[in-house]
Amino acid sequence: MKKLIIFSIIIAITGVTACKKILDRVDFSGVPSTAIWNDPNTANLYLNYLYTISIPVWPSDEGVATLPTSIHNVSDDANGTANSVTAILNGTLTVDQISDFYTGASGAYFKIRQINTLLSSIDGGSISDSLKNVMKAQAYFLRAYNYFQLVKLYGGVPYITFPQDWLADNLLVSRNSTSQCVDSMVADLNHCSVLPANWTTVGDVGRITRGAALAMKGRILLYWASPQFNPTNDMSRWQRALTANKNAYDTLTLDGYGLYANFSRIFIDAYNTTDKEPILFRSYNGTTTTGLYNSYDNVTRPYSQTSGSGGKTNNPTWNLVKAFPMKDGKIPGDPTSAYSYTDTTFWKNRDPRFYATIVYNGAVWGLGSTPGRKQWMYPGITEDKSAPTTTGFYSRKNIDSTVTSTNTQYGKTAWVELRFAEVMLNYAECANAMSDPTTPGTMIGLIRKRAGIPAGADGSYGIGTSLSTGQMQLAINLERRIEFAFEGKRYDDLRRTKTFDQLNGTFRNQLVIALRPGVTVATLEAAYNGGKIRDTINVDNSAAKYFAYSIAPITAELAINFLPAYYAYGIPSSNILKDPNMAQTVNWTYAGGAGTFDPTK
Ligand SMILES: *[C@@H]1O[C@H](CO)[C@@H](O)[C@H](O)[C@H]1NC(C)=O
Ligand SMILES: *[C@@H]1O[C@H](CO)[C@@H](O)[C@H](O)[C@H]1NC(C)=O
Ligand SMILES: *[C@@H]1O[C@H](CO)[C@@H](O)[C@H](O)[C@H]1NC(C)=O
Ligand SMILES: *[C@@H]1O[C@H](CO)[C@@H](O)[C@H](O)[C@H]1NC(C)=O
Ligand SMILES: *[C@@H]1O[C@H](CO)[C@@H](O)[C@H](O)[C@H]1NC(C)=O
Ligand SMILES: *[C@@H]1O[C@H](CO)[C@@H](O)[C@H](O)[C@H]1NC(C)=O
Ligand SMILES: *[C@@H]1O[C@H](CO)[C@@H](O)[C@H](O)[C@H]1NC(C)=O
Ligand SMILES: *[C@@H]1O[C@H](CO)[C@@H](O)[C@H](O)[C@H]1NC(C)=O
Ligand SMILES: *[C@@H]1O[C@H](CO)[C@@H](O)[C@H](O)[C@H]1NC(C)=O
Ligand SMILES: *[C@@H]1O[C@H](CO)[C@@H](O)[C@H](O)[C@H]1NC(C)=O
Ligand SMILES: *[C@@H]1O[C@H](CO)[C@@H](O)[C@H](O)[C@H]1NC(C)=O
Repeated sequence: MKKLIIFSIIIAITGVTACKKILDRVDFSGVPSTAIWNDPNTANLYLNYLYTISIPVWPSDEGVATLPTSIHNVSDDANGTANSVTAILNGTLTVDQISDFYTGASGAYFKIRQINTLLSSIDGGSISDSLKNVMKAQAYFLRAYNYFQLVKLYGGVPYITFPQDWLADNLLVSRNSTSQCVDSMVADLNHCSVLPANWTTVGDVGRITRGAALAMKGRILLYWASPQFNPTNDMSRWQRALTANKNAYDTLTLDGYGLYANFSRIFIDAYNTTDKEPILFRSYNGTTTTGLYNSYDNVTRPYSQTSGSGGKTNNPTWNLVKAFPMKDGKIPGDPTSAYSYTDTTFWKNRDPRFYATIVYNGAVWGLGSTPGRKQWMYPGITEDKSAPTTTGFYSRKNIDSTVTSTNTQYGKTAWVELRFAEVMLNYAECANAMSDPTTPGTMIGLIRKRAGIPAGADGSYGIGTSLSTGQMQLAINLERRIEFAFEGKRYDDLRRTKTFDQLNGTFRNQLVIALRPGVTVATLEAAYNGGKIRDTINVDNSAAKYFAYSIAPITAELAINFLPAYYAYGIPSSNILKDPNMAQTVNWTYAGGAGTFDPTK
């Protein structure tokens, strides 16, 4: 029962308008009331509210009331359901579709304003200085985090550090350069050195630690060094990112963080003191109160294994399925692999993470009260036919298999935004860019060892030795794709590494499952031995007798056409209309005029 409490408290509070009243009072007088800053409890309630509005939720719960970023959960790894998703993939995105900028109470600037209110008011209260500093440090982290959500989309944005007064202050601000924003985020995060290595009091666990701040600094500086923002490959940016990520890795290691032994349980065990991997996460407790449960299992499991909503969300694409290494860590089809690969038996002898991520036709997938059940996905399958998978696969990643179908709607699994494995791969990527010949391989090796891949004769866990910097970068890109599948990282990584457009002309594919002549739904589902006859099929040796597999684009899917302009989005027109000093991003227009703001500077 570690790490459970903080967000529960927060949300309960925002629910009962206590905070609203406080805020109203602040805004109403124009001068922040010092009253709430005289009492550690009320100040803490306000700080907890800042966590609630800032820490991400599960992508399947993203919406107007939580994060405005649901459009960004698109990649080649899954077939999503958001409408605008296809616009990013098919090259029809308009300047107004990436509207994270100002979107009322869910927009980043609303959150930043609430954070700035604490930062500019708390010193007026009578709480002890040491407590103030600890509270301010957390607010600084949350401010940097919210700015980063904007910077990774648009590049530099106005870096506002105080709650603007609608009448007295100049609202016609201009964009700060990306470089200024990066420095400002880093300066905000540097306040966090006063935070503890970990929070042990129940009720505090889940708060920002000093290590979380170092890890976030490392993540931000990695973006700044990456091709998305560093087209000339300025090595000083890589050196700066390397220093930050090595520091994060060393400090977190010292503070007791590390890889969790069981890859499939990192999120599920996040509240357990044995799981030292989550570094930044959002807690849920599975009660029916809005905000305290998540609906990931409800939407992700097969239709018949939910309370009636699953089946079509987070379906893994064939592209992702194919990308997993073999059991010895080598690429499918690599002649030096101990395992041969064919598309018709694609599920055999894969990286153990494959089985923790992908559910294929005929796989054993114990769910709820039926531990040994097999998952079938043939066309017309009775129990799932009203919402069948759209790709021929389901995602198993982070699904809590012990939960019964009716309880899937009240998920309690934590959303882990940043975990130790990411710090390791961020560090590996920077070290590789700086031509360190050993660290990248060591880091990938540790991650693969945890996954269950053997070291192999050359000790490289399948990635090979003497890789060039370019080859190692590709290995890191693949490792991130596999390790972080369904953790909301792929879209950002494709943009950060500027590899999204390499997918142009390709499709997100599905595995089409057909029944062999003579095999029917009725024969497969005939009663047998208390179950159905299909459950006697062992797909490992007889799949081809019953099913024919082929690969095709997802139904109605267009070829991917990711345009260069999408590496730094345009500011929505309505925002420039309100603030003409806001320069449009290059490669986008405003009122017919070409954008001038260079996001790489
Ligand atoms: C979840 O948190 C809420 C609010 O703190 C609390 O009322 C409820 O009892 C908790 N439920 C569980 C199952 O822990
Ligand atoms: C993406 O976000 C949309 C909108 O909130 C949601 O319906 C969808 O399930 C999400 N997709 C994934 C793959 O998480
Ligand atoms: C691309 O996707 C958008 C949004 O779904 C859709 O309106 C548009 O028709 C698609 N483009 C093409 C060329 O079909
Ligand atoms: C952001 O830009 C404004 C206006 O150019 C400038 O006054 C301010 O110092 C800049 N902020 C940072 C953090 O560089
Ligand atoms: C947190 O603190 C405890 C007690 O000092 C320590 O045993 C543990 O390893 C620390 N780190 C983590 C990540 O829990
Ligand atoms: C990880 O946990 C799963 C589910 O509890 C279990 O089936 C599996 O054996 C565990 N794997 C390891 C390596 O401990
Ligand atoms: C925490 O995890 C350990 C295994 O690592 C397990 O034995 C224990 O039951 C778990 N505790 C809780 C409260 O889930
Ligand atoms: C779970 O899915 C059911 C069926 O679609 C839906 O009615 C319900 O609102 C979902 N539950 C939650 C908590 O989102
Ligand atoms: C997902 O697949 C279904 C069925 O193939 C399709 O109708 C839907 O448009 C797809 N969604 C996206 C976002 O591509
Ligand atoms: C892909 O990207 C290139 C530039 O990187 C662009 O010119 C092209 O139109 C894009 N679309 C396709 C389908 O290739
Ligand atoms: C603008 O587009 C061109 C290609 O059309 C591309 O080379 C350039 O990198 C883009 N600039 C930015 C800042 O995205």
